[in-house]
Amino acid sequence: MAKKKEMEGEVYYPSEQVVAQARVKDWDALAEKADKDLEGFWADEASELEWYKKWDKVLDDSKAPFFQWYTGAKVNIVHNCIDRHLKTNRKNKLALIWESEDGNEHRTFSYFAMNREVSRMANIIKAMGVRKGDRVTIYMGRIPEIVFAMLACAKIGAVHSVVFGGFSADALQGRIEDSQSKLVITQDGNFLNGKIVELKRTVDDALKKCPTVENVLVVRRTGQDIPMDPLRDHWYHELSKLPVANGKCPTEEMDAEDPLYILYTSGSTGKPKAILHVHGGYMVGTYSTLKYVFDLQDEDRFWCAADPGWVTGHSYIVYGPMLNGATSFMFEGGPAYPYPNRWWQCVERYGINILYTAPTAIRGLMRFGEAWPNKHDLSSLRLLGSVGEPINPEAWKWYHRVIGKEQCPIMDTWWQTETGMFMITPTPSVPLKPGSGTRPFFGQQAEIVDEAGNPVKDGDEGYLTLKRPWPAMLRTIYGDPDRYVKQYWSKFPGRYLAGDSARRDSDGYYWIIGRVDDVINVSGHRLGTAEIESALVSHPAVAEAAAIGLPHEVKGTGIHVFCLLRAGFAPSDALSEELRQHVSKVISPIARPEDVKFLDKLPKTRSGKIMRRVLKARAQGLPEGDVSTLEE
Ligand code: PRX
Repeated sequence: MAKKKEMEGEVYYPSEQVVAQARVKDWDALAEKADKDLEGFWADEASELEWYKKWDKVLDDSKAPFFQWYTGAKVNIVHNCIDRHLKTNRKNKLALIWESEDGNEHRTFSYFAMNREVSRMANIIKAMGVRKGDRVTIYMGRIPEIVFAMLACAKIGAVHSVVFGGFSADALQGRIEDSQSKLVITQDGNFLNGKIVELKRTVDDALKKCPTVENVLVVRRTGQDIPMDPLRDHWYHELSKLPVANGKCPTEEMDAEDPLYILYTSGSTGKPKAILHVHGGYMVGTYSTLKYVFDLQDEDRFWCAADPGWVTGHSYIVYGPMLNGATSFMFEGGPAYPYPNRWWQCVERYGINILYTAPTAIRGLMRFGEAWPNKHDLSSLRLLGSVGEPINPEAWKWYHRVIGKEQCPIMDTWWQTETGMFMITPTPSVPLKPGSGTRPFFGQQAEIVDEAGNPVKDGDEGYLTLKRPWPAMLRTIYGDPDRYVKQYWSKFPGRYLAGDSARRDSDGYYWIIGRVDDVINVSGHRLGTAEIESALVSHPAVAEAAAIGLPHEVKGTGIHVFCLLRAGFAPSDALSEELRQHVSKVISPIARPEDVKFLDKLPKTRSGKIMRRVLKARAQGLPEGDVSTLEE
């Protein structure tokens, strides 16, 4: 693209070839059109998909902030992910390519086969009594059956609640209980980094306290012996052989605003929030963002290297690619096992065109040096993507140079579990600045404001807010609508509060700085300080605890905790290690603190709130700032 104007800072302009291929050549024109006619833009996008019945209204804001999209419409996201493609020559195109951790197993599914597998799983869970509106918890690793399970639920109108396979029994139990799931779908175990993750045994532990669960459906993956409760637990491969499992399964007609899934995410209080997404708007938002931002072409092989257990996997491994009729690649293992070339092997073996991952993975792989990626032919790559946390310019440049060979624009996409789809993001033809997600997606307006809600000057830091509704937005916090209003729409009425701080530069580019609430972003995973602290005080030695995040070379932020011990316990290295293990067991290994320090007193305000800011400043040897509210 011809340089339109001199831009501030370090800028990477797209090559003429990239612009020539790009779906959006004139970004400004489309942005302006969407800005002027938000509903028109989203009506056009929605019209590219199939609806059983069209909407009466694109956006209904009469009950704001409970916005509704495509009201009156009848649809099912699975109709657009699968059924619609079966009527075209995409029927025989690959929807999913999968490789096992050890590289010895390869499974592929065309859209036709995907329909068969999803229908089979749907028939089975229906036979188990799952009905429209029922919740189903899915606790699995990265195997094709997790995709079947999610789509099977959606197909029959059940609401899936995927819990990341790295969460502990306690965390799983809390989520099953909160969602009142009837059924849990899991696997005997999951291969990861050369070990087996004991998924089924963890489910058994979690279910000791979950009376709502009637059945557990177990996919066989490792083949190891596991306990099976004859009344409650069922092998998937055995049920699959029954006549009831086979044959057609109709896709349920849903209202556009009917729930599709809930997904738990950490917030500033102890209890994770159940974010609710719906069939209609979420479908349009994920379809459209993936199409524009990663410029999906019919022959592309798209690899979102996240886990289906997080929103990135929901929107951009499962739903977005299938809505676009694309071929999605899924890899069971981690990036560096057995060697740090595992991902690059996959790119070469499958001719991946687009790779979408997180800065923490890039930083982790960078440490092993360039020789590993350089062993492989990565020339199929056309675009790269980043998500989950701010990408430091050093990692951006390595990714651009070593992986993308300076030919692949990097789409740094800012969004959240709550937003369901990309919100601040470039498209391929946009000039890039390492570390900035550039500008809001079409139809969106972002504003950075101060404590009083007034816009700050360009260059100044403030709260990131979104000014306009968007179709894939969360509809509520499941079971807690008041918290939805309070959390996102109360600090600045009429605006969505993202919980991040950011600044905008003179080119209108946004730079995310990090969370401003009590959330720590560890390797792109959100963890609430309150969750970590309550895990610590559940240990008999700990009276009080405070958790803070400090910069970490690979993880972006690492967790550091401060504990006040109960009488009768003395600080020691052994206790510190025991507490780290304890947090890992209660929440997940991702929440394991980097270190545990013992204090006699925690800095608190006079009203008793822990001043984490002061602990953070002290830990970094920085000035403590305003401590006028610190208690004596
Ligand atoms: O702080 C932002 C950070 O991740 C948070 C959302 O986390 P979660 O809901 O788990 O979703 C992660 C994947 C969408 C945001 O509030 N974040 C996400 N993407 C970026 C980011 N920070 C900077 N740049 C990004 N591209």
